[in-house]
Amino acid sequence: MPGELAPDAVEDYRRNGFARIPGVLAPDEVARFREAALVAAERLPSRRYKGEPFTQLVNTWQADPTLAELTRHPRVAALAEALAGAPLRLWHDQVLIKQPHRSTATELHFDAPYWPHTGAHDWITAWIALVDVPVERGCMTFLPGSHHRSAEFAGVDLEDPAALLATAPDLVYSERVTLPLRAGDATFHHGHCAHMATPNLTDEPRVAHAVIFMDAGTRFSGAEHPVTEPLGLAAGDPLDGELFPRATVPAD
Ligand code: NI
Repeated sequence: MPGELAPDAVEDYRRNGFARIPGVLAPDEVARFREAALVAAERLPSRRYKGEPFTQLVNTWQADPTLAELTRHPRVAALAEALAGAPLRLWHDQVLIKQPHRSTATELHFDAPYWPHTGAHDWITAWIALVDVPVERGCMTFLPGSHHRSAEFAGVDLEDPAALLATAPDLVYSERVTLPLRAGDATFHHGHCAHMATPNLTDEPRVAHAVIFMDAGTRFSGAEHPVTEPLGLAAGDPLDGELFPRATVPAD
């Protein structure tokens, strides 16, 4: 069934650190959410990088009711918790648009080192394609099993193709799995699974929505991050409540 887990999906996810799930969204949902993402990109500020790997809108669910439906989609949350095997909370969401012809690659990185978290280990990101994403439009590539590394993780420059491999030379000869997606398909990846995205060489924008979950008991580490910066948190405070809602229950 589209949007449901194949029998081996959980085992594959735990071994590889990522999974491709076809048909998470129905075509009418894709059309509505794509329109909302493109409108949001006109009115919400994008984070800035040296070049332009993507237009990046953070926490759109707090600014746009339609995108909130996508970020809080029960099917997305249920898939995330089934794959992660742990109770989760929403950490934040991102609309990620690679503009036609002028977007560069998003180079290899791990996600979790950028995040101000303690007590988290099962982060999972649902990366939902809102247009068809062949390789030439900027799809994701994963390094299978890289989330099992015991070495220290680092946040690296997303625009430097050599940065992650300089800090993780054991991954230089890793297999790489590139996963083009149809609109409505999604990948789910672990916060410690190395990944990248190709540039958009096509005439159409690559529109994706990432919903990022963390363990339900995650606490604030005190490190700087744009999501927590306005909240006045102290190190050790729980990341919970209405800004970090449980994935699969309505409220807490
Ligand atoms: Ni990433």
